[in-house]
Amino acid sequence: MVINDLSRNNISRNDPCWCGSGKKWKKCHYPIKNPQEKISKKDYYLKNYNIRLKNENEVQGIKASAKIAAKILDELCNYAKEGVTTQELDDLSMQLHKSYNVIPAPLGYGEPPFPKSICTSLNEVICHGIPNNTPLKNGDILNIDVTTILNGFYGDCSRMVLIGDVTKEKKQLVQASYECLMESIKICKPGVNISEIGSMIEKVAEKYDYSVVYQFVGHGIGIEFHEPPQIPHCYNDVEIPLEENMIFTIEPMINMGVREAVINKKDKWTARTKDLLPSAQWEHTILITKTSHEILTIF
Ligand code: MF3
Ligand code: CO
Ligand code: CO
Repeated sequence: MVINDLSRNNISRNDPCWCGSGKKWKKCHYPIKNPQEKISKKDYYLKNYNIRLKNENEVQGIKASAKIAAKILDELCNYAKEGVTTQELDDLSMQLHKSYNVIPAPLGYGEPPFPKSICTSLNEVICHGIPNNTPLKNGDILNIDVTTILNGFYGDCSRMVLIGDVTKEKKQLVQASYECLMESIKICKPGVNISEIGSMIEKVAEKYDYSVVYQFVGHGIGIEFHEPPQIPHCYNDVEIPLEENMIFTIEPMINMGVREAVINKKDKWTARTKDLLPSAQWEHTILITKTSHEILTIF
């Protein structure tokens, strides 16, 4: 089978071209796999996928925002105890955002406008739970999701908190969803397809006999809250290779029972499991580097 007919001479890219032009092979008859190679990676990703590869200034700005998001999230998680209401968590969140000089991205976001500064998703709530006056109780599992805006740059992360004595079944769900996130982060580097992230997540979830929510996805982030690409957490066929300076979230939602989410008809936000069995989620903002990745939502 012929791979490409220029390989017959076994010349390298910097050797003179076989055609006798005197130019280097790479500047002359070097085979171009597709004409797009002539445009920069940045333009290629923007044109083909509407994905914005970040420049150095943007990377630095997003890093700074993500670090603050992680700090605020950590302080909120430490405060979440039996008897504390999710509204009190939101009150503390407002103070913390103020003290770090950042804007809480959820507040006023979307349609209808999200009414609070963080999402607090308890037990069977998959995501987008709205803080209210319900006190946390022994045995609850809670997701807190923080998104900050610093000088226009976004960072997004979430974690689970165990309230008091949690059943071993719920503890395992929380631990498995963390494993889904971290195992999928580990494979991230230039050239890996977006589809491989979801494959890894669903493979880990299947090991535990849990289901993966497909109605919500991870997302590009940085200049806006939600940018292309979408990052599905289940098996999928998104053949977009990760590239240096892509920034996106991975935020798998893992259910003990069925994968279907039902959105609250009144508030239009709160997403619950259809069977009301528990759900767990963790989220990080990830930067793709030259040879690997960096988790930005740590401090
Ligand atoms: N932080 C969530 C995410 O991970 C989005 C929350 S949207 C909101 O994408 F409006 F509910 F805040
Ligand atoms: Co997100
Ligand atoms: Co989030």
